[in-house]
This record gives sequence, C-alpha cells and structure tokens, in this order.
Amino acid sequence: MIRKYTYGHPFLTDAVVRKIQEETGKPVYLEETEETDQLLFTYRMKETDLVYGLGESVRGINKRGWIYESYCTDESHHHENTSALYAAHNFLIIKGAQTFGIFIDYPGKVTFDIGYTYMDQLQIIVEDKNLDLYVIEAQSLREIVREFRELIGRSYIPPKWAFGYQQSRWGYKNETDIRKIAAEHRENHLPLDSIYLDIDYMERYKDFTIDKERFQDFSSLVKEMKEQHIHLVPIIDAGVKIEPGYFMYEEGVKNGYFCKDANGEEFVAGVWPGKVHFPDFLSSEVRQWFGNQYAILLDMGIEGFWNDMNEPAIFYAQDRLEQVLEKAGRFQGENLDIDKFFGFQSMVGNLCNNREDHKKFYHETEIGKVRHDKIHNLYGYNMTRAAGAAFDRLRPDKRILMFSRSSYIGMHRYGGIWTGDNKSWWQHMLLNLKMMPSLNMVGILYTGADIGGFSQNTTEDLLMRWIQAAMFFPLMRNHSEMHSREQEICRFMHVKEFRNFLEIRYGMIPYIYSEYMKAALSNDMYVQPLAFVYPEDKFVQQVEDQLMVGESLMIAPICEQNATGRYVYLPEEMAMIRFRSLHDYDVEILFKGHHYVQAGLYEMLVFLRPDKILLLGEGGEAVQEIKTEKIKAIAYVKEGASYNWYDDDGESKDYENPENYSRLTVDIDGSWAYQGKELKTFVIEKL
Ligand code: GLC
Repeated sequence: MIRKYTYGHPFLTDAVVRKIQEETGKPVYLEETEETDQLLFTYRMKETDLVYGLGESVRGINKRGWIYESYCTDESHHHENTSALYAAHNFLIIKGAQTFGIFIDYPGKVTFDIGYTYMDQLQIIVEDKNLDLYVIEAQSLREIVREFRELIGRSYIPPKWAFGYQQSRWGYKNETDIRKIAAEHRENHLPLDSIYLDIDYMERYKDFTIDKERFQDFSSLVKEMKEQHIHLVPIIDAGVKIEPGYFMYEEGVKNGYFCKDANGEEFVAGVWPGKVHFPDFLSSEVRQWFGNQYAILLDMGIEGFWNDMNEPAIFYAQDRLEQVLEKAGRFQGENLDIDKFFGFQSMVGNLCNNREDHKKFYHETEIGKVRHDKIHNLYGYNMTRAAGAAFDRLRPDKRILMFSRSSYIGMHRYGGIWTGDNKSWWQHMLLNLKMMPSLNMVGILYTGADIGGFSQNTTEDLLMRWIQAAMFFPLMRNHSEMHSREQEICRFMHVKEFRNFLEIRYGMIPYIYSEYMKAALSNDMYVQPLAFVYPEDKFVQQVEDQLMVGESLMIAPICEQNATGRYVYLPEEMAMIRFRSLHDYDVEILFKGHHYVQAGLYEMLVFLRPDKILLLGEGGEAVQEIKTEKIKAIAYVKEGASYNWYDDDGESKDYENPENYSRLTVDIDGSWAYQGKELKTFVIEKL
C-alpha cells in the first residue's frame, strides 16, 4: 500500500509514473515538524531497527549511523566521511518493529540523518516546504521495493552486449590507441565487447564533434571494431563549449536553450573545454534538441554512450573566477603567513563545485523560472532522459547503451549509472559491493563501478579480486584515469588467470542476462541483501559483504589484500563452487552456518542454493559469440530443481513475448525436462 502526502506545491520531477490519491492529514509513522524554511520528518528507531536504501551513497547496506546528503556532487575523493555523492536517491526502508518505505520526492537538497545526531533518531530534513512524501507498506522488504518500483516505472534495459567486459581509460587519444587496445585483447583471447572513448575523441571537448586529426575516419573505425565484435562507446558531457561557429553553441544561444543568470544572460561556467553554457535540460524543447544530436554519432554506427559531468560539475563560475583572480593579485609581494596562506588556498579551492554558484542560474519550466539549487538533483537525470527519449525516436526498435554519472529516481527508466570516480582502493571495491543492492532498490539495475579503480595506482591483485567481485555486476568496465598506472589486463603478469575469469563471466552471461531481465520486467531486484531473501534468519541482518544474485546464487567476494580465504555465513545449506576457470572448478556442500573458506587469488567462490540452477554457456570472445544451444546446467538437487530462463535477441524490444521464457527442471535422479521455443541440449551437472 502506498500513501502519498503532498506539501505545498511540489515541483513535478516525473520520478513517479503511477497516480496515487493524496492523503489528508499527517503522515503515518513519521513525526512532522515545520520550521521557517524547511520540513523535518522524524522517526524514533529501536536499537534493533535497520535502515536500507539511499541508492548511491557511502557506508554500508544498513545505513544507520551516518548523515547523508542528497545533493548530486562531483566527489572523486569520497571516503566514509563523505555525505554526498554523484546521485540523489531519496528512498529508505525502515525495518524493525514497524517496517515501511519512504520516498521523498523533492529535487533540491535533502539530508538523511540516520542516527548521527541522536543514535535513536532518523531525521529527514527537506530544504523546502514543497514536496511529495510517499510511505510504502507491504508484506516483506522485497515487496516494499516492488511496490516502490511499480510506482517509479520499469528499469532501463541495455543491449545484451553491454553485459560483456568493457575496457576504458581516460587517455586513449586516437585511432592508433583504440586499435592497440582492441588488438591486445583479441591477440590474447581476452573477451571484450567494448572500448570507451573518453573526452579526447572530441574536437577540443565539444559535444557531438570528432577530432579529425586523431580520428581521420571515425565511421570506418566504428565499423572495423564492430567487425571484431567491439563497440565504441563515446562520452557526452553536460557543458557546451562557448565558441562562435560551433553549431551547438550557436543553436543553443539562438534558441535560448542555455541556463541563464538573474539578468537573463547565459550563465558561464568552466569545465573541460574552458568556458561553457549548460543546456536547460528541464525544458522538454531543450531535451528534444540535445537528444537529437546523438543521431550524429548513431549515424556513424555508435550504439552506446555515457553521459558525464552532469551534476553538473563546475570547475569555476566565470564571475567567481574573475573575483578570485582580482583578489589573488593582492597577494602579490605579500608575506603569506598562516592566515593569509589558508585564506588564499580556500579562496582558490572554493572555485570548484561551489554550491553557492548553483544559486546563480535558472531554468525555464512549466511553472516559470526556477533557481538551479532548488531542482539541482534533476539535472543529470534530465540530460539522460533527453538521450533515452531521443533513442526511442531515432532508433525505436533498437536498444542503445546509456548510462550516466548523476541521477535522481526516475532516471532509471532511461539509463543506468556508473558510480563515479573511485580510487584503486580495496575499500572502494567493498563500497562497490555494498552499493549494489541499494541501487537495485531504487530501480538502477544496470550499474557498476570503475573496476580496478579510476584514480591512483591499482595493483594486479586488486584488479584480479575486483573482476571476481564484479563477476555478476551488469556493467563490468575497467576504467582508469590518465595519471594512474595503466590497468588494462595486458599490463600485468597473469594474463592467463585474468582470461580465465573473463571466460567465466562470459559463461555466466546466460544466467546474468536472464536474471537481469526477469528483475527488470517484474520490478524486482537483481542483487539483494541476504536479509531480503532470508527474513527469518537473525544472522543475515549483519551480513554486509555477501549478496544474493538472482534466484540461484549467493556471492562472497574477497575484498582484502593478501587474503587467501574469508569467513562466510550460509543462511541455508548450499553448494560452494570454487572456480579457477570455466571448466576447472570443485564443489563442496556446506551446511547452514558460519564457515571459513579458502579462495586463493586465482579462485572465485560462488554459492548455489539448493534446488536452484546455474546456467553456464560456452563463452566466445564477445557476447554475440556465446553459445547456448548446448548449455551446462549445474544444480544442487535436493527435491527437484527448476529454472525459468529468459532469453531474447538482446537487441530489439520484444520483451513481453512469452517465447522469451523457457523452463528447465532437473529431477533428483538427474533426468531433466525442458520446455521452450528453441531446441536446447543440456549437460546436467547434478551436485
Ligand atoms: C570524469 C569522469 C571520468 C572521466 C573523466 C574525463 O572524471 O567521471 O570517468 O574519465 O571525467 O572525461
């Protein structure tokens, strides 16, 4: 059951797709306090209450004990003390004496103080009095999520190739670099489905242009790569370079498509190309215009994009820069003592992503002019919506890969996200793991972190463990920045072992894809905390580094350097499969309870639930080469196992076709039956 409470005149975010009748009166569960210019919702938590949610955010699966801010922020240096990340996902579930979900549909800043100020209090502070509050009740945690997801609409579905391994680096500068990366993977038989184009493919960082010197024949390169079953995926940035003669700039200015300052002049900020204007993505006309530009690259054969810097990230606001430069001159010849030096440092430091600058520009909306900070969290969402809606117009029958850095609830209908700039830290690998179920709760299923870490220097073992940890994560992209140690697999000693794990990934894709699609099509979670699947088990509530993936598996990655094993908790008897390669694995049946399990650096553990099935295809070097006519089904049969297998062509949008589903059952004696459109042969491995 969903209850909606409306305060004042909320800005229409389009997060929600279902109409709910408003309640009159005060909200259930929450105490509401009105302050001068904000609303405060309070809930007294019992000591044993758990809090889930908040999508992309720091810390644990259980969010208790910290203060989080929903205010999309370019925060590449995040750690456990950070409050705001790139996205804003205002959804929480409280589990305890009373169990319910909350969604605060407000596009400006919201603070979630979950036992930070007072350990027993949840305080939600909304910086405005115009918002929609939804309270969701259901039989179970999973049902609360389903109800919520029905409210916000179906999750984005990428093409199947986007489940393959993807290679990226900010630093691939030209055709030669791209060909080299492709060749290194293909020559070493390392499965690969795409290579990313970071900002250097553009002409001086101008969206929808191509640097002709570095990429002399872009369309031919796209084609050449596709012949090797590799997709090129270009980046698109939010800011449009100010440059007379540049079509985006000219058209944008002529039609008034950019955000304006209080005087009605285009707001000027600095990002990669230097001075830029920000398209006013809150206007449907601007979205249509910007979205149509993706056709330039689609027409050259491109089938996927990533949208970046769309919080929006601001290196400097032009007016602030001028003031700082002017003030900086005054320091000339000064003896910079403690106060002056720190004053100088903070003056320069405050140039970048200064929230005060969000108060300097406006959006034209259906309700008139709105100041950016009031709707800040909708900016990246609407950039990606512009792209998603354009793909539906430009390529109605084809799936296009799209994921964004910034997001708000609702954006999950148009694309996935990656979790922004992380570091080559074991801690960030663990954070990647913990964020996955929270992201699934808010509908973001196509997601992953920069594997190996974006900035700072990775190590071979970190990359190896991260690939194992991200084995089942839909977006599996190795991405790093130019100042860090190169981290393509070929830079390291154990290429063969890396290959083994990529082959396992491709072998798992029939299962991964099937589970992803079923979750997306039924508003369910693909990755879940253990507590969602075993609600009666009192131990699982504490488990933060193991996850359920789809209906058959539990994973327990090793997230610690030099560890050759780990403790693991099994909420029921399971078959532990220790993979060394797709064909080399051993199996142990482990009873319910606590275990210490071994897994050396070149071993990966997967736990198979009783009477469930894991499908294993025979991987090629690209997703389209995976063979599923003859497929292995591993089952730990106690009473009889079954599996509902979803599969389709991975490109078109005929999702609802019942023929996409088939059913495999395995009996206690190992005999099997299959019902499906196509003939398949199964090699059953009964554990
Ligand atoms: C941002 C992105 C990162 C990208 C870089 C250069 O930092 O988060 O992924 O490589 O910009 O475009």
